[in-house]
Amino acid sequence: MQKFYKIITYGCQMNVHESEKLAGILTRLDYMPTEDEALADVIVFNTCCIRENAEQHALGNLGALKYLKAKKPSLIIALGGCMIQQDNVAKEVKKSYPFVDILFGTHNLEDFGVLLKKRLETGKKVVEIVGDKPKICENVVPFRTSYPNAWVNIMQGCNNFCTYCIVPYVRGREKSRSMQAIYSEVQKLVLLGYKEITLLGQNVNSYGKDLNDGTNFAKLIDFLQEVRGEFRLRFMTNHPKDLTEELVIAIANNKNCCHAIHLPVQAGSDEILKKMNRRYTSKDYLDKVAIIKKHLPDCAITTDIMVGFPGETEQDFLDTLNLVKKVGFASAFTFVYSPRKGTIAAEMPNQIDEAVKKDRIMRLVDLCNEQTRQFSATYLNKEITILCEDYDKKRDLYLGRDQYGRMGYFKSQENLIGEFVTIKVNSATGISLYGDIVEE
Ligand code: SAH
Ligand code: SF4
Ligand code: F3S
Repeated sequence: MQKFYKIITYGCQMNVHESEKLAGILTRLDYMPTEDEALADVIVFNTCCIRENAEQHALGNLGALKYLKAKKPSLIIALGGCMIQQDNVAKEVKKSYPFVDILFGTHNLEDFGVLLKKRLETGKKVVEIVGDKPKICENVVPFRTSYPNAWVNIMQGCNNFCTYCIVPYVRGREKSRSMQAIYSEVQKLVLLGYKEITLLGQNVNSYGKDLNDGTNFAKLIDFLQEVRGEFRLRFMTNHPKDLTEELVIAIANNKNCCHAIHLPVQAGSDEILKKMNRRYTSKDYLDKVAIIKKHLPDCAITTDIMVGFPGETEQDFLDTLNLVKKVGFASAFTFVYSPRKGTIAAEMPNQIDEAVKKDRIMRLVDLCNEQTRQFSATYLNKEITILCEDYDKKRDLYLGRDQYGRMGYFKSQENLIGEFVTIKVNSATGISLYGDIVEE
C-alpha cells in the first residue's frame, strides 16, 4: 500500500531546504508527499527556535496532532531541527508530548531514514541528538519543490555568536563544503532546467575560512562563472563585517549574479551594535554600502532589523531609523527582540518593556514600508525581466521576481513557469508590481 508523508517546516530558507532533504530521504523509502494529515503515515516537524513565537507555533501545531495519533496509532510523528538541538528541549518534549515517536537534532538529518526504520522495527521512541557537530549532507538527494528555484547549501553553522542569537548554539561551528561539490551541484541543477540558484549559509561571506586553503566566497563566485547555461545566482546571508571589496567585484564580474545583497544591519546605534557583538559600527556599515554602490550602482540592498534589544534607548532606536533613512533599503525584515535561553543577551539587564517594543516596531515598519513603496514606484512604466515561478489561481496571474527581488504579476494564456519574461510595469502597490508581457 502507498505510504504518505507530510513535512511541516518552520524557520529560515536553510530549514526549508533541509526539509527538501528530508523529503528526499522519504522519497527513497517510497513515501509520497501529501498535504492531508489524516492520510499521512509520517508527519515530520522541522522546527526553528530563532524567536519564541517560532517555537510556540511549532509546539501548538504539534499538540493539535495528539488526537490524530490517538485515532491512528500507526502514525509516526517526528520532531527535528534547531529547536530540538537546544539543551533540555528534547527532555521537555519527551515529558509533555509523549506521543512523539522520533526526536532528531539538526545534525542528524542525514540519518533520518535509519531513525525511521528503527522506530518501525522496534516500536520504541527514538531519540538521536548529537552535539556541536554540523554535518554536510553530501549523500542525500533533495526532493525539490521550488522549481525553477533551487537552494544549494554552501556551509553549515555559524561562528559569530551575536549575543541575541541561538543559531551558533544549535547549528554548531562553521563548516564549508568544497568548491568542487558546490560547483557540481549547481551545474547539475542548471542542466536539469533550474533557472535560479540560491547559495545558502548563515554567513556566506565567511565561506571557506575553515578549509584553510585560501578558499573564500569571492573565489567561489568567480569559480561558478564556469557553470554553463542560463540561470541566475543569488546567495544569503551576508554578514556586513565580512563583506569585502573583492567580493563585490566578483559579484559585478559574474554575469549570472543578481544585483541584490541581503545585508542585515540589525541596529543603527553603535552602542547596541557593540552589545550585540556585531563587530561593526554604523559607519562601517555605511562604508560597506558605499563599496557596493561603487561597483554595483543598481544593487538592491535588503536587510534585517531588530528593535527592543536590552538597553535600547529611544535615542538608540532613533539612530536605527536614521540609518534606515540614509541607506534606503529595497525591503527589510523587521523583528522584535526575543530573549533566547542560553544566549548572552537574555541575561543582560534592562530588558525592554513589551509596550515600548511594540511602539518601536510599528514606527520602524512604517518607515520601511514607505521605503519599499518608494522603491516600487521607481518601476512604473519600466520594462523588467522576471523569472516566472508560480501561478496565482485566485487572481489568474503568473508571478516571478526580477533580479532585485521585486515580485511582478502578469496575465498569460500560456504556462510560463520557468521562463524569463519581460513585462512593462503599469502599477506598483507596496512590494508587488503588475504589468503586461512585452512581446518580443
Ligand atoms: N545568519 C543571518 C541571520 C539568521 S536569523 C545573519 O546573521 O544575518 C535571521 C534574523 O533573525 C537575524 O538577522 C535577526 O534580525 C533575527 N533574530 C535573530 N535572533 C533574534 C532574536 N533573539 N530575537 C529577534 N530576532 C532575532
Ligand atoms: Fe546569528 Fe549572528 Fe550567526 Fe547570524 S551571524 S546566525 S545573527 S550569530
Ligand atoms: Fe531557525 Fe535554525 Fe534557521 S533557529 S532561523 S531554522 S538556523
